[in-house]
Amino acid sequence: MSDQQLRVVVLISGSGSNLQAIIDEKEAGTLPIEICAVISNKEDVRGLERASHHGIPTKVLDHKHFNSREEFDQELMLVIDSFCPDLVVLAGFMRILTPEFTNHYLGRMLNIHPSLLPKYQGLHTHKRALEAGDKEHGVTVHFVTAELDGGPAVIQARVPVLDGDTESMLAARVLEQEHVIYPRAILWFAEGRLRMCNGQALLDDQIIHV
Ligand code: GRF
Repeated sequence: MSDQQLRVVVLISGSGSNLQAIIDEKEAGTLPIEICAVISNKEDVRGLERASHHGIPTKVLDHKHFNSREEFDQELMLVIDSFCPDLVVLAGFMRILTPEFTNHYLGRMLNIHPSLLPKYQGLHTHKRALEAGDKEHGVTVHFVTAELDGGPAVIQARVPVLDGDTESMLAARVLEQEHVIYPRAILWFAEGRLRMCNGQALLDDQIIHV
């Protein structure tokens, strides 16, 4: 059974609500993947509990135990590759990645970023959208390249910014959409419909314009 399923390794650093959304779709039978492992760079995070609860193998690789970003990424690659994944899914993995790492997984690593990229690469996206007075905000799934939050977009969801919104209210509205679009993007990849070619994301051989 699992031979035909896309082998996925998920990287997390925290709560893992996106991981949970992926697990839920898999268990509902709507996402034909095998989650081979969940790897966290932090111990004792909720995402690890969620994985264990569903019988998914977990590993912790603490970046603080390494002398450099390069050494950590090299070891992380070894751990990931020991699971032979077809796709690596970054789900709230709060690390800047070396080009060696991103190039190794080019075209087979996705990330979710809580903004309408190319707006607000980096951190504090909800705060920045509020401070800018944006009327609309959202989330993007993209292929990972060496440029931080800069790879080609696969899918976006938009939400309104409402009067009186706080950062956490806006974040919650965006997160709800994250849980919809991330499993969808992974499904496209699992179905062989989504790929990256010449720096562009293609769905059914058509360039994706978000
Ligand atoms: C999400 O907002 C995601 O977009 C960002 O980190 C957060 C992770 O949340 N990259 P969770 O750990 O999936 O709950």
